[in-house]
Amino acid sequence: MSYEVSGWQEPTLGENLARAGVKRRDFLKFCGGLAGVLAAGSQLNGGAAFAAPTAEQVATVLEGLEKPILVWLQLQECTGCIESALRSGGTTVEDIVLNLLSVNYVEAIMAPSGDAANAVLEDANRDAHILVVNGSVPRGLNGAYCTIGGESAETVLKKSAENAVAVLAVGACAVWGGVQSSRAPGAGKHGPTDSVGVDTIIKDKTVINIGGCPPVGEVITATCAYLLTHDLKTPELDAEGRPRFAYDQRIHDSCPRRAHFDAGQFVKTFDDTAARNGWCLYEVGCKGPSTFSACPIIQWNMHTSWPIGAGHPCIGCTEKNFFDEFTPFYSTLPDVRGFGIEASAETVGLVVAGVAAAGVAAHAGVTAVRHAASRKAAQEAPLDAFGDSKVWLPDPTVKDAPETVEPEGTTSPDTDTDPAGKAE
Ligand code: SF4
Ligand code: SF4
Ligand code: F3S
Repeated sequence: MSYEVSGWQEPTLGENLARAGVKRRDFLKFCGGLAGVLAAGSQLNGGAAFAAPTAEQVATVLEGLEKPILVWLQLQECTGCIESALRSGGTTVEDIVLNLLSVNYVEAIMAPSGDAANAVLEDANRDAHILVVNGSVPRGLNGAYCTIGGESAETVLKKSAENAVAVLAVGACAVWGGVQSSRAPGAGKHGPTDSVGVDTIIKDKTVINIGGCPPVGEVITATCAYLLTHDLKTPELDAEGRPRFAYDQRIHDSCPRRAHFDAGQFVKTFDDTAARNGWCLYEVGCKGPSTFSACPIIQWNMHTSWPIGAGHPCIGCTEKNFFDEFTPFYSTLPDVRGFGIEASAETVGLVVAGVAAAGVAAHAGVTAVRHAASRKAAQEAPLDAFGDSKVWLPDPTVKDAPETVEPEGTTSPDTDTDPAGKAE
């Protein structure tokens, strides 16, 4: 979909879209994407908790909008969040900036700079607007670590929040402080710059937290669309202030590798046969069992892929303090939320496979778990990254016999064979 945009010239969004030559069918497609994201939560809740709108309903409301103003502040951040938003869905940057949201102030892509940019912000702040913040607020050294137009991030945020009709904290940095707030040894409670999230500063308004580092772009735009289509009413939020439509589902519960987890089939190193077969990444550190996000459903870059789909464990980036709670990233952590007391994937796998064995005694997964349980963990070179001391480098060669080599379905259901084809 591409068309000519010429700014917001007509009273309503629908009229501006028509002027730009946007076909209703294309607009409906775009609205269908937004409705799909809003429906992600209701799918996993049997449709009971959320009454997700249809594409037609979203389109009707959006078409009638009269130039909603949006201010996007970039505080102490890396630009990853706005990159994610701009690459969301099947829409173009221009669609979002000029047609849907009418972003008046966003440093990354706006034309004005210096005093002119400051003036744009002042103007936008005077009117009612939706405020999107990405980046944390560093309070150390009286805010000197991040200033805009000579003012500290905290002052800029407070000024922009004053007339805001809704406040969105986008990304881990804005939600709880992000990596710069990590409690590394000697860094203090909120990191060396004393960085905090938006809701630590803004107390008189509900802050909608869009967790992730960065969040899925469609979740950002869908939350804005939710506000615009619900009279700026805050969507239902979870305990961490995240919209439930996008964060009420555990990654582990909709992960396409889940069958391998249940069968006790785990990747041991990033280049082993199990990795090539797309088996479960729990033993190489996946935090999907403790992480809530719609990543498996919405995915990234127009539904192209997502971390686990690309073979990387989920590092739990939508969860608060994940840099502290979930590191070392490439280790299985014994006490993360989600599994209770189980100490390792092998324990979990044995329990799960033991239950499954009652029904399918000769399932190939049972064999895999037996092998895994009896084998001593191979010691490999540690990777000194992200503060890890116990993570393991991917082994350049496949060391173990390919005990997990057979794709499911190729093992005889009533023969307890190992994957090399030898009967036990
Ligand atoms: Fe960058 Fe992550 Fe912070 Fe977004 S949340 S600004 S991607 S570090
Ligand atoms: Fe998927 Fe990770 Fe759960 Fe394995 S542990 S099933 S890779 S979410
Ligand atoms: Fe983040 Fe995990 Fe999704 S790392 S992007 S929450 S798969």
